[in-house]
Amino acid sequence: MADLSIDFAGIKSPNPFWLASAPPTNTGEQIMRAFDAGWGGAVWKTLGDPIVDTSSRFGALHVGGQRMVGFNNIELITDRPLEVNLREVAEVKRRYPKHTVIVSLMVESEDDWKTIIKRSIDAGADGLELNFGCPHGMCERGMGSAVGQEPEVLKVVAGWAVKYSTVPVLVKLTPNVGDIRVPGVAAVQAGAHGLSLINTIKSITGVDLDAMVPYPVVGKRATNGGYCGPAVKPIALHMVSSLGRDPRVNIPISGIGGITTWRDAAEFIALGCTSVQVCTAVMHYGFRIVEDLIEGLSNFLDDKGMTSVNELRGLALPAYSEWGDLDLNYKVAAHIDPEKCIGCDLCYVACRDTSVHCIHTGDHPLPAGHRAPTREAAIAKRKETGVHVTWADWDECTGCNLCSHVCPVPGCITMVDDTRGKPFESWNDRIAKGTDKVPGGLHD
Ligand SMILES: Cc1cc2nc3c(=O)[nH]c(=O)nc-3n(C[C@H](O)[C@H](O)[C@H](O)COP(=O)(O)O)c2cc1C
Repeated sequence: MADLSIDFAGIKSPNPFWLASAPPTNTGEQIMRAFDAGWGGAVWKTLGDPIVDTSSRFGALHVGGQRMVGFNNIELITDRPLEVNLREVAEVKRRYPKHTVIVSLMVESEDDWKTIIKRSIDAGADGLELNFGCPHGMCERGMGSAVGQEPEVLKVVAGWAVKYSTVPVLVKLTPNVGDIRVPGVAAVQAGAHGLSLINTIKSITGVDLDAMVPYPVVGKRATNGGYCGPAVKPIALHMVSSLGRDPRVNIPISGIGGITTWRDAAEFIALGCTSVQVCTAVMHYGFRIVEDLIEGLSNFLDDKGMTSVNELRGLALPAYSEWGDLDLNYKVAAHIDPEKCIGCDLCYVACRDTSVHCIHTGDHPLPAGHRAPTREAAIAKRKETGVHVTWADWDECTGCNLCSHVCPVPGCITMVDDTRGKPFESWNDRIAKGTDKVPGGLHD
């Protein structure tokens, strides 16, 4: 079995799976149960001056039958006394010395940072995470995303933490910025030892159309919340990979955002993360999901012949490039398996109404010289069964792959390489050769 242990900026963890700073890490009792379930680490619910929360404070986006595809909250930092939290940090570290306990912090003045950092380290924190991400409630008080959105302020505050800390300092970034590399590099310049991202994205999940109040409703009012859960994973992956590829970022990254399955976690690690953090999936399914995360990642590493999770880190980064460096001659075409097609026509309609109308049914004529490898089989099955089996004209197909996304049958539509020996040529190659002008442009 592959070795899942990691070293994050000197912090050792039995596996890369950490609970993110959020309701699942509110108390020592919860964190100890999570460690018993298999979590390698936990980032404590952000500590600072205790706050008063609203009721209600969560909103959710349900899509079809799937609950909590997106999740939204207007919760603030801890509402429990600092003394109580720190006593529990000490107890957790005493009882679970091999597990990772990172304490998340958010206070205002340099003096406050100095004090809370010392007290957290004295309690036994393995590392600190600076919450520069909360997009509601705390930013109005000059903290959270108010710091994360101002690189110069971020540098000053992170600099204080680095100065006063004797344990690694992770800066948790807000995604509510134009270019994540700006605060990421500012954190590196401030001397941070690691980055965590993403915190939540500013959002409104919907509107109560009877009360005419957005969700989550607080009496007769509402405010923007922070979005997370499976829906934000693509945004988080993009931001993580932007930093993972940046040569100025020479510190480890803890990936967060929509991680629910071992596959999600493996994707974050393949894009450069050393550890991953989970919140919404645990709020939805409980601590027990870590069993599947551990088993799935271990099996995957074994299947790929990797002996440790560290071998996976960053493997997908070299393939990520700018659009201008993609191969314009690479071409795929839709292969619709006549055996699997159920004749729902979703691919036919999608291709007809939003693409090039290269998908047909029955004995629709095929222009001379065009290729449609599954046409004859599709016609035969339609004759035999009456099912509207579709087929694609490969010489019309542009390989956009919309059909494969709308198709409800797994494995029915696959995109097959139809490059046919054309050499690699990117847009940047074309610009260099002066062949970038496509006929039919503005000046033709
Ligand atoms: C209810 C709730 C409370 C949260 N509280 C905090 C917090 O106190 N500190 C913090 O850094 N992040 C907080 N977060 C953000 C999470 O740590 C995490 O960055 C975000 O939810 C994305 O991960 P996910 O998609 O796995 O939920 C909170 C998230 C939720 C849903």
